[in-house]
Amino acid sequence: MGQVDRLLQDHAHCEKKAAATALSLIAAHPDQPKLVAALSRLAQEETRHLFLVLAELERRGQPLGRCASDPYAKALRSFIRSEGEARLCDRLLVGAIIEARSCERFFLLERHCTDERLKKLYGSLLAAEAGHHSVFLRLASDLVGREAARSRLEELLEREAELIVRLPLRPAVH
Ligand SMILES: [Fe+2]
Ligand SMILES: [Fe+2]
Repeated sequence: MGQVDRLLQDHAHCEKKAAATALSLIAAHPDQPKLVAALSRLAQEETRHLFLVLAELERRGQPLGRCASDPYAKALRSFIRSEGEARLCDRLLVGAIIEARSCERFFLLERHCTDERLKKLYGSLLAAEAGHHSVFLRLASDLVGREAARSRLEELLEREAELIVRLPLRPAVH
C-alpha cells in the first residue's frame, strides 16, 4: 500500500470523525436550535465526503482500515476547558481550527496532485470545507461574543503553533 492510499484512509477517518463530532455536539446541546441546525447540516456533508473518499478507496482496492491515532487532534482536544460554556466554546473553536487546516491541506493536494481523479476529488471537497470553519466560528461567536471568541481563538492558535513543530511528518491530513 502506497502513501496516497494511507493518506486516503486517514482522510476517510477524518471525514467520519468530523461527522461524529458534529453529532456529538448536537447530542450534548439539544437545547440550542442554531447549533443543532448548523451541525446537522455539517454532519450530513461530512458523511457525504466520507462516502466519496470510501468510493475512491474501493476503486483502489483498499479497505477503510483501522483508525490510527491522530496526535494533532488529540493534543488540540487537550486544550479544551472542562466546564460549561467555556467547554462548548473551545470545542467549537477547535472544530474551526481543524476544519481550516483540512481546507488548507486539500488546497495544496488539489494544486500538486498529478492524478486527475484525485485532483477533482480534492477540488470538490475544498469548496465545502472552506465554509465549515466559519460555521464553527460563527457558533462560538454567538455563544460568547465576537471579541471573546476571537481572543480565545488566538490563544488556541498560539498553542497549536507550538504543537505543530513537535509533530512528525506522516501521510495524513493533519
Ligand atoms: Fe469534509
Ligand atoms: Fe469539514
